[in-house]
Amino acid sequence: MDRYAVIGNPIAHSKSPQIHAAFARQTGQALRYEALLAPVDGFAPAVADFRAHGGRGMNVTVPFKLEAFALAERHTPRAQAAGAVNTLAFGADGILGDNTDGAGLVRDLTTNLDFALAGRRILLLGAGGATRGVLLPLLDSRPASLTIANRTVAKAQALAALFTPHAGRAQVDACGFDALAGRRFDLVINATAASLAGELPPLPPGLYAEGALAYDMMYGRGHTPFMRAALADGAARVADGLGMLVEQAAESFALWRGVRPDTAAPLAELRRQIDAG
Ligand code: ATR
Repeated sequence: MDRYAVIGNPIAHSKSPQIHAAFARQTGQALRYEALLAPVDGFAPAVADFRAHGGRGMNVTVPFKLEAFALAERHTPRAQAAGAVNTLAFGADGILGDNTDGAGLVRDLTTNLDFALAGRRILLLGAGGATRGVLLPLLDSRPASLTIANRTVAKAQALAALFTPHAGRAQVDACGFDALAGRRFDLVINATAASLAGELPPLPPGLYAEGALAYDMMYGRGHTPFMRAALADGAARVADGLGMLVEQAAESFALWRGVRPDTAAPLAELRRQIDAG
């Protein structure tokens, strides 16, 4: 049977095995998908071992996405832009590195949340790997503008500079949180690690335009602190990142197997489990 795995450290709480098992059942694909714990200094040998034992592909999570990029022999344009890889595909022609995070986010926004991105003013909070991973697919969705705001302004500027303006594509601008005062956005995405420390990015009030959506890449039981703060500041709608998690998995599955699974039922099941605690 074809083998797949998610590799990371830690990995015990990964939901990917459950998600991919549901996809496999639903599409009638015969495959096995497991969670693989690699030592922090043992990523490449763990991948080689998995590949030598029938591995066809892997999802890659913290802290290995940069090493996966280095290991891949070819990259999709979106992995190239992300500078990080969350999906490896092993073929006769070597290791392909892809990054499905941004496509997963865009699909969650446009399909699950019915939020069209074209012509919208988008604000991305944070300038780390999570932000870089989604920039190209967001830009390809033709927003009116895309702003990166970060605590360390230089990091936001460096990210924005990676994306030189294309004809018909919005220019990426960068600033600190204070400089957002007086501006309004249709979509605000929290890609900072602030909530891991129980903190919130210090945002000026009044950021949300009429009908605006606040999206937190984090997820958990009930609303995240960012979602609660956004509602208090006038966001019309809020969403967490559970849909992005399921959609990036579907995108990986489609790359490996050539069939796109339906995400509605696996997403609803995960939501039920999380809400049940
Ligand atoms: P990831 O790869 O998950 O994006 P990262 O590269 O460590 O992680 O980036 C974390 C992001 O969260 C950064 O943008 C960081 O801001 P700095 O670049 O100024 O460090 C942001 N971040 C972390 N803690 C934060 C906090 N308490 N308030 C605001 N931003 C925070």
